[in-house]
Amino acid sequence: MDYGFFDNPNKEYVITNPKTPTKWINYIGTLAFGGFVDHNGGGVICKQDPYLNRITKYIPQLPSSSMNGETLYVRVKQGQGYRLHAPFFSPILEPAEKWECRVGLGYTRWQARFAGLAVEVTVFVPFDSQRVLRDIRVTNTSAQAQDVDVIPVVEYTHFDALKQFTNADWVPQTMQSRAIKQDGGRLVLTQYAFMHKDSMVNYLTCDQPVASFESDRQKFLGDNGYGTWQDPGALKAAGLSNYEANRGDNIGALLIAFKGLKPGETRRVVTQLGQMKDLASEKAEIERFRSTANVDKALADLAKFWEGYLAPIQVETPSPDLDNMVNVHNPRQSYITKNWSRYLSLYQLGLGDRGLGFRDSSQDCMGILPNKPGEARELMEKLLSTQNPSGNAMHQFNPLTMEGSTGDSREMADRPKYYGDDHLWIVLTTCYYLKETGDFDFLKWQVPFYAKKGAARESGTVLEHLERAVGFTHGDLGQHGLPLLGFADWNDTINLRAGAESLFNANLYGAGLKELVELFRHLGDAAKADQYQQWWQSMKKSVNDVAWDGEWWLRYFDADGRPMGSHASPTTKLFMECQPWSVLSGFAEGERARQCMDSVHAKLNTRNGLKLSWPSFTQYDPNVGGATTYPPGAKENGGIFLHTNPWCMIAATLLGNGDRAYQYYDQINPSTRNGRIEEYEIEPYVYAQNILGDEHPQFGLGRNSWLSGTATWTYQAAHKYILGMLPDYDGLRLDPCIPKAWNGFKAKRVFRGVEYRITVQNPGHVSKGLKSLSVDGKAVAGNLIPLASGKKVVEVLAVMG
Ligand code: GLC
Repeated sequence: MDYGFFDNPNKEYVITNPKTPTKWINYIGTLAFGGFVDHNGGGVICKQDPYLNRITKYIPQLPSSSMNGETLYVRVKQGQGYRLHAPFFSPILEPAEKWECRVGLGYTRWQARFAGLAVEVTVFVPFDSQRVLRDIRVTNTSAQAQDVDVIPVVEYTHFDALKQFTNADWVPQTMQSRAIKQDGGRLVLTQYAFMHKDSMVNYLTCDQPVASFESDRQKFLGDNGYGTWQDPGALKAAGLSNYEANRGDNIGALLIAFKGLKPGETRRVVTQLGQMKDLASEKAEIERFRSTANVDKALADLAKFWEGYLAPIQVETPSPDLDNMVNVHNPRQSYITKNWSRYLSLYQLGLGDRGLGFRDSSQDCMGILPNKPGEARELMEKLLSTQNPSGNAMHQFNPLTMEGSTGDSREMADRPKYYGDDHLWIVLTTCYYLKETGDFDFLKWQVPFYAKKGAARESGTVLEHLERAVGFTHGDLGQHGLPLLGFADWNDTINLRAGAESLFNANLYGAGLKELVELFRHLGDAAKADQYQQWWQSMKKSVNDVAWDGEWWLRYFDADGRPMGSHASPTTKLFMECQPWSVLSGFAEGERARQCMDSVHAKLNTRNGLKLSWPSFTQYDPNVGGATTYPPGAKENGGIFLHTNPWCMIAATLLGNGDRAYQYYDQINPSTRNGRIEEYEIEPYVYAQNILGDEHPQFGLGRNSWLSGTATWTYQAAHKYILGMLPDYDGLRLDPCIPKAWNGFKAKRVFRGVEYRITVQNPGHVSKGLKSLSVDGKAVAGNLIPLASGKKVVEVLAVMG
């Protein structure tokens, strides 16, 4: 079955079959105001926080056929009655003559044709204004004039998204709607919870006169609520009831009448869904988007934003699938993931107080450094402000209140209340940021450490924050001299009794120290550089003394000192994530580095990607934790957890194995799954978090698309390591590690304001190593392209061999 295709010139994925195996979504706006829309027109919108200020009610657990959050009806007068159409397919489910849903950068556009009508709808959030615009155009393709009504509908939720589901008395008693009539038949239909009637007022309005409206779901569906979204009772009558709800399940429905639409004629209405304090403060902005010229400009500005966003890295390689991801879809996903962390998706529902994750967001920042370093810095500063004075970090924080939490560790009173890895990620992120931008002033910024609301806060420079991070781990070692696990490390689902040690944390600490050594050398502080070099050396010794299992590295020691992830282990014998990280930290050298990655390849690789562990746990074990709640082959229990695959790509490039690095890249590339959707099921235009592994009967099934560390790391693996354009303090290092079969590649990389036009030739068909490098025609020794001053464009020619 075909579900769609990539339209590369338009940077869109075009869904042509509305009945995809799961909902396929797109994001509009940002966490400041926005959410996601699915390909059947449903969507969830929130402002600043999906938990504490949610606007539309979207329930992912509903059957795909349901109306969910928003929809649109188009009806045509026929004799005494009406014929109903749904341009989004849902909720009427009538096949259109032609139907397309174009998933674009920051917008989605539907084009549907029914008997005698062509309808086009574009939904987006303007780059500089907080509202969802739905730009609806209806063309009469028949030979007769037609009377057409357009009826956009939103279903509201209580602003407290969780209360909506836990209190079915308080919530409906507080929900109200009012209609504000304006000149020329215009209308602003508001909706709010009573306590926020003067502060947080949702509204639906448009640029055309509104013939009638509805705000109560039961009245819209009809028949005491026994009517259906598929065939709502209200749409059988000439007009809606103009009812202003005093309680209950609130919706916003507007009826816009296009009377006497002539053959060939197109009419247009643009709806706005937003939130305001009151109309007086919002009026001007509403009027702004009642001008279609301004709507067109907003869409053009959005396109310009994305063009600028993607410009810093554009590549042309022998692999069109890699080009497709690196040039468009991967950086887009990295940006979306940075904006939303793991807070709001089809899978992570933004209910309750999860917030942004320290570990996740630290990694996400790395994925936007070439494109939006300023936004990365903004988020890094927030993250640093949730670092504890002890050096470790709050696991999550709520973006609206900046309140931190200790994550899932709250659920287990006897377990550590910090995660052994969180604080270490920001060390890497900050150093990568400095290498990308050269913005060393950032190190001097004063940023407070975290304290509970109202308590006095200690403050320190960014550099002090980084030193406290490694300092915490330096002082938090277990009986084998390895860093303690805390509640968990990167693998959230192995939660061992206090006292357990983690080899992952050891490697992450090592990688952080390596970066700090380089940084302090660059800053000219030899004493600090030597100190951290010595810390690195001593951890390297501990790791090599106690954690080598013969063919790979152990993963943990439990609180009793027993190894986990050993060939002698009764259950899982090999965990992947600490193998590539031993190469990244530099702790694994020579034979051990090669051997551990060969073991990964031999035991963990599948045609759908590298799985996280082998063999899987076969039953629930509360002493191990969440990993054992999954059946074999799912998620952290032997599933293909894609976040970790790029780490193996990077390790392969560090070991000089370009064929393997590319194999790992290609086998998880979602765009190559376009012809295998029956198996994979989810969007082919973004990476997933997980694919079921080969110990699961549904091997190859993907889930948890969009918000995943896979985005940031695969992007980094591709541009920094496979294509080898690696930012460094003194220039751009060019150290590609590519498949031997490649003849070379071309790339454009904007680095510190200069556009480097890079040509790499590979006449000898090697994977790694430069024979010559020339910069603007001058030969340069080594592989560092020095910083160019006063130039806009620099031509680089590298010959491998
Ligand atoms: C999820 C979490 C991430 C964690 C990973 C592995 O992706 O968001 O923080 O590292 O699972 O458990």
